[in-house]
Amino acid sequence: MIITPLDPAELSSPVAVITGGWSRERDRALLSGRTVAEALDEMGVKTRVIDLAGPRERMLDSLAEEELAFLAIAGRGAEDGRLQGFLETLGVPYTGSGVLASAIGMNKIHAKAVVSAAGVRVPVGTRIEPRAIADDEAARICTMLDLPVIVKPTNEGGSIGLQVTTSVESLASALMYVAEEELMAEAFHPGRSVSVGVLEDQAGVVHVLPPLEAVTPNGIYSFAAKRGTADCDYHVPARVSPETMNALQDQAVTAHRALHCHSYSRHDFVVGDDGLSWWLEVNTLPGLSKGGNLARMAQADGISYELLLTHILRGAATDRRARP
Ligand SMILES: Nc1ncnc2c1ncn2[C@@H]1O[C@H](COP(=O)(O)OP(=O)(O)OP(=O)(O)O)[C@@H](O)[C@H]1O
Ligand SMILES: [Mg+2]
Repeated sequence: MIITPLDPAELSSPVAVITGGWSRERDRALLSGRTVAEALDEMGVKTRVIDLAGPRERMLDSLAEEELAFLAIAGRGAEDGRLQGFLETLGVPYTGSGVLASAIGMNKIHAKAVVSAAGVRVPVGTRIEPRAIADDEAARICTMLDLPVIVKPTNEGGSIGLQVTTSVESLASALMYVAEEELMAEAFHPGRSVSVGVLEDQAGVVHVLPPLEAVTPNGIYSFAAKRGTADCDYHVPARVSPETMNALQDQAVTAHRALHCHSYSRHDFVVGDDGLSWWLEVNTLPGLSKGGNLARMAQADGISYELLLTHILRGAATDRRARP
């Protein structure tokens, strides 16, 4: 994929870098926002940073003066279509996917249904019934899925609240512990944690970045590993066979299209020792810090951080109103 360097004259107004917000991924969003704004400033683009959790009137006033919103944010209220719908209503073009892909993509159960229907292998799972008694629900899940079972929030990122349970008792206590969130249970597939980035140009032509593998001592790409407080090594490209590499790249593109993602997306998989891959989820607004996974994959493909941001910025030019 050829991305030409940005000429700041392409942009007729300052760019609003929208970051922060109130989700549990706020800290990661602020890191993305800061590095994106710094890089854009160095590229000669005038930016204004807006915290989605700031005073509403100030945000509305600021946005009214912008012509383009660069979304450097993640999690609920921002990655789930709410912010995208708000910006579309205001008539402010924005980077990344539209309302439909964002809303479905943020909900792991709905996203897996769509991606599985498109022919991509996904782990079997079930929504956890919040009103059920934990012991009864744990027993139901254990008749459906073999242990160990992964329990995770349906609408969360950053491995927040993710647990591996190895007995019906630990499953029941996992269900009680985080009962305030919508949870799901999923078959646990041991293997390599691999992430695949997809870039799509304005003509709809896609380019898949070299997959990234995250290696942790227990095989789970955990909250601590993502925050740098637990050991984690990265390999780009992932250490998988050429056949698995092709399959991962095809599946990421199929998922990107099935979900109606726009401009870019990052897909997380586990790859077993048999080379079979399982699609876990999409990140429609993956972290955009300079050392983040998407930037690492782009770098390995000869795409600098500045060119990656240029690609994402140009994606905002497409008029989304007639699209899903
Ligand atoms: N079904 C599963 N089988 C095996 N490992 C899993 C499974 N689900 C999740 N994991 C492990 O947990 C990690 C995080 O899972 P997942 O990507 O679903 O969570 P997330 O919180 O949405 O992540 P992100 O930070 O990318 O938003 C995976 O990379 C993988 O290591
Ligand atoms: Mg993930």
